[in-house]
Amino acid sequence: MRVRPRSIVIASGKGGTGKTTLTANLGVALGVLGRDVTILDGDLAMANLGIIMGMHKCEVSFLDVLTGKADVKDVIYENHGIKVVPTGFRFEDVHDVLSKVKRERVEEIVEKFLRQTELLLIDAPAGIADATIISIAAAREMLPVCNPTYTSLVDCHKTIRLANVLGSWARGLVVNRTGKTADISTGEVEQFMGRTLGAMPVLADIPEDSKVQEAEREGVPVVVYEPECEASVAINELAKVVAGEADLPYVPYEDRAVEETTNRLIRALTGRRA
Ligand SMILES: Nc1ncnc2c1ncn2[C@@H]1O[C@H](COP(=O)(O)OP(=O)(O)O)[C@@H](O)[C@H]1O
Ligand SMILES: [Mg+2]
Repeated sequence: MRVRPRSIVIASGKGGTGKTTLTANLGVALGVLGRDVTILDGDLAMANLGIIMGMHKCEVSFLDVLTGKADVKDVIYENHGIKVVPTGFRFEDVHDVLSKVKRERVEEIVEKFLRQTELLLIDAPAGIADATIISIAAAREMLPVCNPTYTSLVDCHKTIRLANVLGSWARGLVVNRTGKTADISTGEVEQFMGRTLGAMPVLADIPEDSKVQEAEREGVPVVVYEPECEASVAINELAKVVAGEADLPYVPYEDRAVEETTNRLIRALTGRRA
């Protein structure tokens, strides 16, 4: 029997938290675990996923699917054991698409990608503008990623609340680039998030690791470039959690849980019960 496909959007609030790096490496790590994975570049304006995966020359991309010039199957490339859907770099097209693309159209396309994969990871753009809203709404689950700083946490918190409104469920979050003395600790992150969002466990704590940037320069995902480095070890552990193979329970999607979160959110916003 075919397992029910899952769609997970990797989002933050701020740019530069490590969304694209995490999408690529978590995708490859899940592939190593034997999962059928597709990673999709939902950050049309910045389009970095292909670069991190070492794919610089892709004739057709997600952008061409959005503009109706290509079919879903034409933009699925393979690299490092997983399927990769890069997006384009043509400024004229990006501007055109960003101003015209509709949420329904993206959801329809995402449905098509889900028909050919077990796990779809979507790299979301930063911020909470239209393009981000569309990426988050298109996925059933969200994996938020933040850095251990107050501003990053506050922005990430907003993104999680946005996801709750859009019906995308965040089971927990990832703290990336940790290890500096002034960092907010994992416990503090959980407390801060938990105070307004209910239980929001830290699913992974990925240390600051120079190998990540070294790998990026080489155009190879760090989990392949240096599998034993600290960042790779943490990402591989996270992959097991996401796949449901590690101790920390990862609940893929539960209507009841989403409803509870939504009710709590409404109470927090309006002071009333839903
Ligand atoms: N754990 C880490 N250690 C060191 N550098 C990192 C780590 N995670 C990400 N980076 C670096 O931070 C920069 C921004 O990461 P990126 O994934 O592009 O962020 P985003 O997609 O959120 O904008 C990149 O140069 C990347 O190599
Ligand atoms: Mg990015």
